[in-house]
Amino acid sequence: MIIVSPSILSADFADLKNELLVVKNAGAPWAHVDVMDGHFVPNISIGVPVVASLRKATDLFLDVHLMIDTPIKYVDQFIASGADMVVIHLESDTPEMIHTTLARIHELGCKAGLTIKPGTPVEAMEPYLGEIDMALIMTVEPGFGGQSFMADMMPKVTWLREHTSPDFLIQVDGGVDAKTAPVCKTAGANVLVSGSAFFKAADKAAFVECLKA
Ligand code: DX5
Ligand code: ZN
Repeated sequence: MIIVSPSILSADFADLKNELLVVKNAGAPWAHVDVMDGHFVPNISIGVPVVASLRKATDLFLDVHLMIDTPIKYVDQFIASGADMVVIHLESDTPEMIHTTLARIHELGCKAGLTIKPGTPVEAMEPYLGEIDMALIMTVEPGFGGQSFMADMMPKVTWLREHTSPDFLIQVDGGVDAKTAPVCKTAGANVLVSGSAFFKAADKAAFVECLKA
């Protein structure tokens, strides 16, 4: 089964309640929330209060991608605000603190994900595979929507599929559209994030169906 998770980074931030409805009506079960701190990535997006407002507005599964340094400082707040899954970057802290942060996310009853930037080898995720509910392979340099898909990340997806169970969640994020989604699925991805392509699609329900097919 393929899960489509539209990234609200490409939504109208003045109209998020309605944009979540657009996601829901398109048949997507998840919404992907990109949190950026201006340090870990060279861009600033949204934070805890926005996630709390999203939670009040929707019953969609909120997949919160933290592109921030030392996420241990903030995971409690994001979970209290209603995140269903918190995904942290392997590069955002020391290995010891990454283990601690993943454990903290689970302790608080939330699902935990781990992700890597394009320059990080996938083998670096191996020590954490038993501690996560989802692995995310970035298919663009994190920080901005609307970038081109990096097909050369697909061997990482295949490596993960070979080292996990068949139903383990493997997410891809960045440049995913009707053309690149089949490449992701062939490599073994089963959770597809799509920002600009989703929000630009004239028929969003058809777009979601196309990604799932
Ligand atoms: C990039 C974000 C992505 C972004 C994807 O840093 O993590 O989630 O919204 O946008 P598209 O689909 O436009 O590449
Ligand atoms: Zn993202």
